[in-house]
Amino acid sequence: MVRQPVIQGGEDPLRSDGKGAETPPPGGGLPRGPLFGGGDDQDRLDEELRPQRLDDVVGQRAVVERLRIILNAARKRKEPLGHLLLDGPPGLGKTTFATVLPKEMGTECQITSGPVLSAPKDLLPYLTNASYGSILFIDEIHRLPKAVEEFIYPVMEDFRVDIALGEGLNARTINMKLKPFTVIGATTRSGMLTAPLRDRFVNREHLDFYTDDELADIVRRNARKLHTKISDEASREIARRSRGTPRIANNLLRWTRDFVDSEAQGEITDALAREALARREVDELGLDRQDRRYLQTLARTFNGGPAGVQAIAHSMNLAADTLEDEVEPFLLRNGLLLRSPRGRVVTEAGLRHLGLPVGEIDPQKRLF
Ligand SMILES: Nc1ncnc2c1ncn2[C@@H]1O[C@H](COP(=O)(O)OP(=O)(O)OP(=O)(O)O)[C@@H](O)[C@H]1O
Ligand SMILES: [Mg+2]
Repeated sequence: MVRQPVIQGGEDPLRSDGKGAETPPPGGGLPRGPLFGGGDDQDRLDEELRPQRLDDVVGQRAVVERLRIILNAARKRKEPLGHLLLDGPPGLGKTTFATVLPKEMGTECQITSGPVLSAPKDLLPYLTNASYGSILFIDEIHRLPKAVEEFIYPVMEDFRVDIALGEGLNARTINMKLKPFTVIGATTRSGMLTAPLRDRFVNREHLDFYTDDELADIVRRNARKLHTKISDEASREIARRSRGTPRIANNLLRWTRDFVDSEAQGEITDALAREALARREVDELGLDRQDRRYLQTLARTFNGGPAGVQAIAHSMNLAADTLEDEVEPFLLRNGLLLRSPRGRVVTEAGLRHLGLPVGEIDPQKRLF
C-alpha cells in the first residue's frame, strides 16, 4: 500500500511516523524500557512537551549554534537547507530538532520512518509532494530497506528519481525531476548506516547526553507547561536521576506530579520528589529496575563477564537492540560496565552499586 504523505500542521503529525499498530517492530525493534515508555502513548507525551522553536531548546549549544548558521544562510540565499543527519541515543532530541527546523524555516514538513518505507513506491508520494525547500523527516533511517536506500541516492544528490518501466527488451528508465528539498534523517544507530547514505548528508550532528543543570532547566520549564509548582531542589533531584536524557526527565516529572497529586498536595518538594522516585524504583544514580537487572544478570549469571550482548539479552528475555540503545550507553558512561573485545564486563563500581561483594567474582576468570 502506498502511504499518503502527511503534511505537518495536522493535529498529530507524529502519528504518521510508523510507530502505529500497522508496523510492529521486527525482532530488534523497540519494546522500550520502563523509563522510556513506548509506542503511540509516548509519542503523544513527547509531543506535548516538545520545544517548538530553537530558542526553547535547552542544551546542545554547539549543535544549536551550527544549526542556526545553516538556517540563516539558507534563509538569506532562499535555498533549501542541506540534508541533515541527526544521531544519538533515544530521547535526546532528534525528533525535536527535526520538527523545530521546518518551523524556523517556515516550510512544510513531511514525516515518515525507515521501517514503513518497504519499497521505493512507498517513498514516491512523499517525493512528488515535496515543495521547494520543504523538509522530509525520515525517522529510524537505519531501518530503510536496501532497495529504498538505493532509490534515495539520486533523490538526495540531484533531486531526480529513476523509475524502471517494463521488463526485458522493453525495459526503460524514466527520470523525473523533483523540486529541491531537504532530507532530515534520524537514527540511534549511525554505525548501521551505509557509507554512501551517510555521505549524502552534508550536515551531520550527534546529540549527546545532557548535564544535570540542563535537565533541571528542562524540568522547571516543563513543570510550568504542566501548571505544576516544583521547588528548585526537587527539579535538580529529578534531573540527577534522569540519566542525561530529557525524555526520562519528562517522564519522571510526570510521575512525580501524579504521585504528589495523589498522595499529598501542593508544590513538589525535594522530599516528595525523593519519595516518588523511590516508589518508582529509580535509584540515586538514575538506574531503573531494568538497568539493575542487566547488571545483576551479568554479575550473577555470567560471573561478571565477559559476556556477549546477545547472551545477556536472551537471559533477560529482551531484544539485544534495546540493551544496546537504552541500557548500556548509560552504564558505560557511568563506569558501571565495560565493553571489551570479548564481551561486556561489570566493573567494581557496578558491583558496589548493586551491593554485591567485589571479591566474590574471581578476577582470573574475568581477565581478557
Ligand atoms: N534540547 C531539548 N530541550 C528541551 N526538551 C527536550 C530537548 N530534547 C528533548 N527534549 C524533550 O524530550 C522529549 C523526547 O525528545 P525527542 O522525541 O526529540 O527524542 P528522540 O531523540 O527523537 O528520541 P527517539 O530516538 O526515541 O526517537 C521531547 O518531547 C522533549 O520534550
Ligand atoms: Mg524521535
